Amino acid sequence: MKKDKKLLKNGKRIDGRGIGDLREMEAEAGVLERADGSGYFRMGDTEAIAAVFGPRELHPKHKQKPQRGILQCRYNLAPFSVEDRKRPGPSRRAKEIGKVAEGALSSTVFLEEFPTATIDVYMEVITADAGTRCVALNAGAIALADAGIPMKGIISACAAGKIEDTPVLDLKGEEDQGGQVDLPIAMNADTGEVTLLQMDGMTNIEEMDEMLELAIKGCEKVAKKQREALMKTF
Ligand code: CDP
Repeated sequence: MKKDKKLLKNGKRIDGRGIGDLREMEAEAGVLERADGSGYFRMGDTEAIAAVFGPRELHPKHKQKPQRGILQCRYNLAPFSVEDRKRPGPSRRAKEIGKVAEGALSSTVFLEEFPTATIDVYMEVITADAGTRCVALNAGAIALADAGIPMKGIISACAAGKIEDTPVLDLKGEEDQGGQVDLPIAMNADTGEVTLLQMDGMTNIEEMDEMLELAIKGCEKVAKKQREALMKTF
């Protein structure tokens, strides 16, 4: 993107969105034949598919927990998902996102109901234009619910950010590259419990409050979309 390209003009963003608007969303449950549960989520030009397997016996056995199950997440950015082909295979970034996704999703699952078991969540980003960890998590949460895993509630994620000194919701690629802050969160929109919060960039407390307020409202809208997708499968 050219350095001098304006990201905000009269309160409108490059794709015509207002400051508090999410990108267009699409959600579907039960998209894969061979998984125990699956989900698809799209926000603008970022889309992900997730598959859940389990609960099933965890191998190797020495990793098993006698009192509770574990949840394992894999996040993968497909080589064809980005403009310059991404080198296949796990990167440090992918491993880190897998780990934070595990934390974000496992707090909502009743893992104590599955001693010695694992629930595996595979999240594949098939098109990337910023916000991939959030979109992957949204697909992953749909897949968990689709698999019938008992949960306290659905986890919903979206990012807020700052562009041209202005807090905005849900950055797209050019905004992410040319912007100042990216702040993804994941939460249970019913209970208000935040299960992931990360931030890139510099900000202050006032802006942080504004971004969090935008992101929380965004997660509530994501939750509605996820629920609609799940309701269609009944
Ligand atoms: O995707 P997310 O915002 O969760 O994470 P990020 O690390 O901040 O990446 C921002 C964006 O950079 C991604 O959504 C992709 O569009 C892009 N990216 C890329 O093109 N190639 C990579 N290897 C990693 C990220």
